Amino acid sequence: MTMAKSSRLPGFYDLSVAERADIVARWAELTAEERAALKEGLSSAQANQMIENVVGTHALPLGIAANFTINGRDYLIPMAIEEPSVVAGASFAARLVRQGGGFSTSSTEPLMIAQMQVVDIADPWAARFELLAAKQRLLDLANETDPLIVSLGGGARDLEVRVVPESPVGPMLVAHLIYDCRDAMGANTLNTAAEALAPLVEEITGGRVVLRILSNLADRRLARAKCVLPAEALAFSRYPGSLVVERIVEAYALAAVDPYRAATHNKGIMNGIDAVVIATGNDWRAVEAGAHSYAARSGRYTSLTTWEKDGDGNLVGTLELPLAVGIVGGATRVHPTAKVALKILGVKTARELAEVIAAVGLAQNLAALRALATEGIQRGHMELHARQVAIAAGATGEMVEKVARQLVAERRVRLDRAREILGRQ
Ligand code: MEV
Repeated sequence: MTMAKSSRLPGFYDLSVAERADIVARWAELTAEERAALKEGLSSAQANQMIENVVGTHALPLGIAANFTINGRDYLIPMAIEEPSVVAGASFAARLVRQGGGFSTSSTEPLMIAQMQVVDIADPWAARFELLAAKQRLLDLANETDPLIVSLGGGARDLEVRVVPESPVGPMLVAHLIYDCRDAMGANTLNTAAEALAPLVEEITGGRVVLRILSNLADRRLARAKCVLPAEALAFSRYPGSLVVERIVEAYALAAVDPYRAATHNKGIMNGIDAVVIATGNDWRAVEAGAHSYAARSGRYTSLTTWEKDGDGNLVGTLELPLAVGIVGGATRVHPTAKVALKILGVKTARELAEVIAAVGLAQNLAALRALATEGIQRGHMELHARQVAIAAGATGEMVEKVARQLVAERRVRLDRAREILGRQ
């Protein structure tokens, strides 16, 4: 019998990069080659296969967020990000959430939408009727375009057709092909299917198909996360837990009603989400587009999370957003670090990956709100920022920590001061 692995990694923060990588390699049973990929990353030759006009690679730090328990299972979370405090914030929030039993998550089937825009139609309602009457023929044709996905249980599921009576170019039909893309992100599959259907759509409607492309508002492919924190878990310094619960709910309220705050609130959520999306080689622009368009779905841009106090005084948070991510295809299986990141996560399906990512987004939002609603974020931020300032001023080795500590102690986290300190050594 194997023991369930714990994502609690006490002292991890204080280790060297190599020591941390060794721990993660043992945790995830990485091979020597996979362990080496953490250090070496993408080669120029591999990069040259991925995009055009390659002149090099551009690396980001890869950190590990600890403490995550999701649906009763522990995960280590690889995060690729340049911003200090994000990995620490996620790990910290996940440790708090553990005290309430961890995150619970769910998701829809991995359904993506491809749009076909039909113009030059005199009788759009009749054309809509004809398209819907031919639905099975269209779905069958869409299924011929990717037999592999169909053999894996995916494929075309539905056709929806909207009439747009007025547009700058007159009436239009917008047909949505709903397609289950299983463990792929799905962009190629959906775009291929939409292009293949276009001639038949034109024949049936008598119109002309203009665009044939997936929609990044992937509102049929949602991931959700929830956490329940006992008030005691939130107590710290001079802040009783019940007060922190109330302050977090108040802080959330502004994001719920005000787009100016909602943008920043959601940016904090995306700090966590993008970092895992990037680490696993997924398309973070698609995820960003989906998240923000979903946040505006009511016509007014709002928070992606909710925070409430339940009848027992616990803090309850939820997050729901579209997450079009895959574990096959694209960079997920080409980029050596992305492959290792997926192995560290140990996710078996794209849905599981999406759910883990949603939990990280919720954790990130909790970390930000807890700090913002109490002591403010600058203290914690400054400690990490001070190291970057020290490096920018020319500090290396042990001097980085030494200069950073002095900058924070003096409350003068500034480049000129860091240079002065270094000059005096
Ligand atoms: C900074 O990257 C993210 C925060 O601004 C998020 C927030 O305000 O909720 C701290």
